[in-house]
Amino acid sequence: MPSSEHTLHFNLKNFHMKLGLFGFGCVGQGLWKVLHETKGIRADIKRICIKHPDKQRPVPAHFFTTNPLDILHDPEIDVVVELIDDADAAFEIVSEALSRGKSVVSANKKMIAHRLPELYALQQKTGASFLYEGACCASIPIIRNLEEYYDNDLLTSVEGIFNGTTNVILSKIFEENFSFDQALKFAQAHGFAESDPSLDVDGFDPKFKLCILLLHAFGVFVQPESVLHFGIGRVNDFDIAFARSRGSVLKLVARCFRENDQVSGYCLPRFVPEKHRYASVQHEYNAVTLESAFSEHQMFVGKGAGDKATGCAVLSDISALRYQYRYEYRKFSQNGTFFDTSETELNIYVRHQWDGQVAESDFTSITERYMSGNTRYWIGKIPLSKLQAAPWLNDPGINVIEVSP
Ligand SMILES: NC(=O)c1ccc[n+]([C@@H]2O[C@H](COP(=O)([O-])OP(=O)(O)OC[C@H]3O[C@@H](n4cnc5c(N)ncnc54)[C@H](OP(=O)(O)O)[C@@H]3O)[C@@H](O)[C@H]2O)c1
Repeated sequence: MPSSEHTLHFNLKNFHMKLGLFGFGCVGQGLWKVLHETKGIRADIKRICIKHPDKQRPVPAHFFTTNPLDILHDPEIDVVVELIDDADAAFEIVSEALSRGKSVVSANKKMIAHRLPELYALQQKTGASFLYEGACCASIPIIRNLEEYYDNDLLTSVEGIFNGTTNVILSKIFEENFSFDQALKFAQAHGFAESDPSLDVDGFDPKFKLCILLLHAFGVFVQPESVLHFGIGRVNDFDIAFARSRGSVLKLVARCFRENDQVSGYCLPRFVPEKHRYASVQHEYNAVTLESAFSEHQMFVGKGAGDKATGCAVLSDISALRYQYRYEYRKFSQNGTFFDTSETELNIYVRHQWDGQVAESDFTSITERYMSGNTRYWIGKIPLSKLQAAPWLNDPGINVIEVSP
């Protein structure tokens, strides 16, 4: 006779999950493909809620609905998978599903980064599980690693290349001598960038991922508005030539780190030496580096976007629900840490056009100055809080790149 524990385990493993899917775009279709190509996962998509009923779909029409209640009110559906591109509608769907006791999987970094405190509270209240590995660096299993493996006080920093679109653009520029505009057009033509690429190019997307990782790495809830982000949209030929002259390439790097009880973070383009481990992370690949007291650097690399790469992370979350997996948010419950950027100083390159355009008084020190025609740059130390508040940062004639952390 099996023990009751054995019976429960057996039942959960053989339990056939019914999924209700919201969204059938890039990631929704990726999930459909990986689900149908993976043997042994006992889960079926029962209904798919989409926005535009007249679109051609590669799946029979009876799966589709435009009424969210067909999924949310269906008692047979155990798991809601939210893969839409509208953050407000996504929050409504996810919060309604959790309130109804359904487990939810999502990849919506924008929605999650902005609504984490409410989503955390809903999980505590309802006991329902909410998993979102696909929202951070797609195929890299970083959230579950931070939750499970790094459940200690020894983690000191989490940083990396969190955005595939900008990495495609920068790879094309530095590997194949594309101009910024050519590289952006390439990324759009090959499905790596949206027609409006600003969420990626201006650095919002990696910042949203950073905000999510801040909670799982260090136990702090940080609103995206509190974190400095600066993208690659102002990179010009001078910056590219400058990087090359220093034996470097450019990468967009998001970073958070802890010093004692204080956690800081930001997202900036960075000059990276050609031999640095990030230089070999190319195209749509992402990298996450963790630094901890005894193991030093550990770097995870994997595809950071795409239908199957993201669909695979979503599938892994669905699979984890079979074992009733949920994030424990232990670092938050054990926490004495807080987010504060006031002690952080950055070494940055500021390219500008004319005297007085950048406030020299914001800098603690300036180690290098260059001036030729209407191109100038300084390299110097600046407190992160001053950079965050600097009005000159909004001037499109100015570019900012981190020189070294
Ligand atoms: N693409 C990636 O590589 C990637 C990677 C990681 C995370 N993500 C995240 O995954 C999510 C989906 O991205 P995607 O690239 O798959 O987007 P997408 O290709 O633009 O597809 C969006 C889907 O959402 C549906 N939709 C939009 N509003 C809806 C609503 N109110 N109710 C029901 N369906 C709605 C659309 O319906 P119609 O088909 O009828 O228009 C479409 O099927 C986003 O949050 C994105 O940030 C994407």
